[in-house]
Amino acid sequence: MGKIYPSERKFMNMAIAGTGAMAMFYAYSLKPLSPTLIGRRYRPFLVTESGKQTLLDPPFVSWNDAADTPWDVIILAVKWPAMPLVQQLLAHQPNECLIISLMNGMGQEAALIPPLSPQQLACGLTTNAVTLSWNKHHRLPEATVTARGETTIPLMPHPLIPFWKETLDHIGWSWRFLPLEAVLRARWVKLVQNSVINPLSVLANAPNGALPDLPLWHLMPDLIHEARMIAQTAGIVLPSNLGEQVTQLARATAPNISSMLQDVRRHRPTEINSINGYLVQQARAHGMHLPTHEAVIALVDRIASNPNV
Ligand SMILES: NC(=O)c1ccc[n+]([C@@H]2O[C@H](COP(=O)([O-])OP(=O)(O)OC[C@H]3O[C@@H](n4cnc5c(N)ncnc54)[C@H](OP(=O)(O)O)[C@@H]3O)[C@@H](O)[C@H]2O)c1
Repeated sequence: MGKIYPSERKFMNMAIAGTGAMAMFYAYSLKPLSPTLIGRRYRPFLVTESGKQTLLDPPFVSWNDAADTPWDVIILAVKWPAMPLVQQLLAHQPNECLIISLMNGMGQEAALIPPLSPQQLACGLTTNAVTLSWNKHHRLPEATVTARGETTIPLMPHPLIPFWKETLDHIGWSWRFLPLEAVLRARWVKLVQNSVINPLSVLANAPNGALPDLPLWHLMPDLIHEARMIAQTAGIVLPSNLGEQVTQLARATAPNISSMLQDVRRHRPTEINSINGYLVQQARAHGMHLPTHEAVIALVDRIASNPNV
């Protein structure tokens, strides 16, 4: 361990909450730090990047056992329906524990502060893209890295942040550490991108690249206009060309099946309540309505509850 950690601190008890695509990717990318996975069930898994397959079998603990263990760093890599378990996990963690959320959607602060203090929770974003599948040959789950992107977290005034940055540099996986306001704006941009591409891909039952050529894409300007109004109430000015950016993103990720469409196809709850639903909740808190987002949520919920409609 002494060789892994560059500073005088010799040990970091680190966990990744989740056992899905992103949790497998973080376990693979942070392997020198021997992270423990937290989840409902576990089996060894494969991670494939650029054609190279790696078998991983990291330590695993259940949510209950993890809640009784004091951790130094926990990365949140679950879907939103797991939030009650995350809340239980974090209820009795020491004040020194640093929590890094790389989940999509918004509302982590409202869900987790308290029990956490604001300095303990670093909500960031990642543009890495990972898809989960079943490897029939090895009879194991397989996480395939479809795009290597950037991971960004805010420079929180937490004593472990400099150590975490130093440790990541040491193992050769550098993240971006930016001022809180810059990360918040980037999270808003990603929220709005997701609030367009994810639900429209469900409504069209189509990969990202097909969306800009469909009549459904005419909803995009209204979805962005409504989201822009809500961002403004939070003091966030979104880029003026966000519509073009979203169209480019859909085309640049053409073969991708969005995570929301993957959830619907697997008959699993979607994250729409923390993406479009978050915008609608914020609007209501300001006495406003977002008719396009509300309509899209109702349609996605209808399809998710009966994928044959
Ligand atoms: N995949 C990507 O490319 C990507 C990129 C950027 C951000 N993200 C975000 O990262 C987060 C994780 O995504 P992912 O792709 O890793 O999702 P995933 O493969 O579907 O894995 C989801 C994880 O959440 C757990 N979970 C879901 N519902 C649960 C519930 N009700 N109770 C307990 N556990 C539950 C799952 O546990 P079980 O397996 O036991 O159900 C699994 O460990 C999401 O917020 C996603 O939007 C994903």
